[in-house]
Amino acid sequence: MSQLQIGPHTVEPPVVLAPMAGITNAPFRTLCREFAATAGSPRPAAPTTAAPGSGGAARSRPEPHRGLFVSEMITTRALVERDAKTLRLIRFQDGERPRSLQLYGVDPDTVGRAVRMIVDEDLADHVDLNFGCPVPKVTRRGGGSALPYKRPLLRAILRAAVGNAGSLPVTMKMRTGIDDDHLTYLDAGRIAAEEGVAAIALHGRTAQQHYGGTADWSAIARLKEAVSEVPVLGNGDVFSAEDAVRMVRETGCDGVVVGRGCLGRPWLFADLVGAFTGGGAPARPTLKEVAAVMVRHAELLGLWLGDEARGVIDFRKHVAWYTKGFAVGSTLRQRMAMASSLAELEEHLAALDLDQPWPVGAEGPRGRTTGSRRVVLPDGWLRDPYDAAVPSDGAESDVSGG
Ligand SMILES: Cc1cc2nc3c(=O)[nH]c(=O)nc-3n(C[C@H](O)[C@H](O)[C@H](O)COP(=O)(O)O)c2cc1C
Repeated sequence: MSQLQIGPHTVEPPVVLAPMAGITNAPFRTLCREFAATAGSPRPAAPTTAAPGSGGAARSRPEPHRGLFVSEMITTRALVERDAKTLRLIRFQDGERPRSLQLYGVDPDTVGRAVRMIVDEDLADHVDLNFGCPVPKVTRRGGGSALPYKRPLLRAILRAAVGNAGSLPVTMKMRTGIDDDHLTYLDAGRIAAEEGVAAIALHGRTAQQHYGGTADWSAIARLKEAVSEVPVLGNGDVFSAEDAVRMVRETGCDGVVVGRGCLGRPWLFADLVGAFTGGGAPARPTLKEVAAVMVRHAELLGLWLGDEARGVIDFRKHVAWYTKGFAVGSTLRQRMAMASSLAELEEHLAALDLDQPWPVGAEGPRGRTTGSRRVVLPDGWLRDPYDAAVPSDGAESDVSGG
């Protein structure tokens, strides 16, 4: 399978960890990245070229990156205002490269300033822009997945981002539209290509679909045909390495973005790398192996948050995902999800039958599955797709998700 080029970054195989608010912080990205790096087959050899004037001597190019791991979304207003919590959220682990930071903003001026700040202060190596958030409190004010409906506003935001990014690649991520009667992805994709984005990721659902039903992969294929000059990344319902390979085969997309499939399963990145590089069967960890990853995840969170207890408390939301399908029992699962120290978490894990093999019940969809909901929009929002008015501040405040 071919490489994915995101500006100066070569990603091979072309697998991307989807930004997920509250999840894809530095500790989780580190776990996924480590699994990708240690996957079955040897790392693809760095291609060599003869340097001009070197008499044909081979010079090695930078090694491709085994996957791209995107941060949770950061609002541009909070970033430019140097909100303390936001500044803590954007921290990367030492050695994390490329540093992919996702931004969400509704005001071209603020987005431009946020990107300029990232460049000037060397805060990231790649900026992704989120236009897919379906949360009502955001769409109600014209933000998130409601925004691409306003073509000139979308263009202005993209232009501000790319124009301030210097050599940093800017990518965008979106849904197919507001609902089936108001699909926006083809127009948005063309606008993004014209404005010079480095790649476009499409989640094959409308905002109305939320996380219900199945993602429409045919939309990914249509986008790929419409904007052949820019890499198109497919997203939605990849829960196994086979799904990822099938998505590429069926849509012709240039890379695959995987979200919920990794929840409680960071080793999916080893499977993904293995499937695209022809090395190794999918990981089927025993509960003992899963338990070791759980402890490490909680530990990393503690180090990142600067406090063991806070790490274990933040880890609580991951417990049900890691133990999905294993015979754990609701009492122990609940106790683990209430643990406040590593010792407590380890004690509960030790009480389990750790020899259990990987269960069939752990396969398939996981994470959010909330179905169709009415998309709340500002009054008259759908009347004029060519209106460039900037949504009110509230469209950006206190949001998370995509
Ligand atoms: C818990 C959670 C948080 C999310 N947060 C974000 C986010 O911050 N930015 C974003 O663009 N998408 C976000 N998403 C959407 C995912 O990136 C992805 O588009 C979606 O889950 C579909 O992909 P999947 O089927 O592989 O999960 C989030 C999804 C979930 C489940």
